[in-house]
Amino acid sequence: MIGIFDSGLGGLAALKRLTERFPLADTVYLADTARLPYGAHAPDAILRYAKEALAFFLAQGAEAVLFACGTVSALALERLRPKSPIPLYGIIAPTVDAAASVYQGGALAVLGTAATVKSRAFPLALERRLACPPLISVACPLFVSLAEEGLTEKGNPIAQATAAYYLSPLKEVDLDGIVLGCTHFSLLAPFIRPLFPTVPLLDCGRLAAEALPPLPREKGKRRFFVTEGEARFSEKASYILGAPVSAERISLSDFA
Ligand code: DGL
Repeated sequence: MIGIFDSGLGGLAALKRLTERFPLADTVYLADTARLPYGAHAPDAILRYAKEALAFFLAQGAEAVLFACGTVSALALERLRPKSPIPLYGIIAPTVDAAASVYQGGALAVLGTAATVKSRAFPLALERRLACPPLISVACPLFVSLAEEGLTEKGNPIAQATAAYYLSPLKEVDLDGIVLGCTHFSLLAPFIRPLFPTVPLLDCGRLAAEALPPLPREKGKRRFFVTEGEARFSEKASYILGAPVSAERISLSDFA
């Protein structure tokens, strides 16, 4: 069984891709909905939450965990890995690989949560990979709220205005790619795409699921856990996944 973690609905795009690739892998999805948005929290809090999530997955018997969360990948993953008895995957390395493959000497934009942008995890990883690419980082925290509130249906004027507001500094830039460095942002892609019709959008959750090594063939069992609001999450996740979801509620303080 592989655990998939996000603060909320964002990681579902990674789960969807993972289950397309490995339909028989058993999965446990955990959304820490009680403490969302992660991007507004301090680094030590994010590390503590990620440790609790890992302890939860270990108690469930997970053989690997995908942190389908840009914020945890940026602020906690490298600290968790050395002590983890199971492999931990994140979104940064696969997304940086994809950015390197579209890079043609222009600029790259990285969109993320405030905590991710502040951490500089993407620029540092990109600079290690490519010789000093021009990088523009943009924190887009309201994208997380729009995704969680379900304000992303076709033509939603609030989502349109928010995307135009956040991304206006990028309009005049010769971009080779835009990194959607928060898994929630894939739900905003339909609003970003018309602003940059020809620029590749690099969806970190999907890329992370693409990059996973083969998972064992099991029963294809899917379980979902949240830390708050199980009915709301179940309804929204069922819509996003196109399959019924019935989430159970847990308390991560039991794993502190
Ligand atoms: N989906 C997460 C990320 O990729 C967290 C968003 C949030 O809770 O702020 O960063």
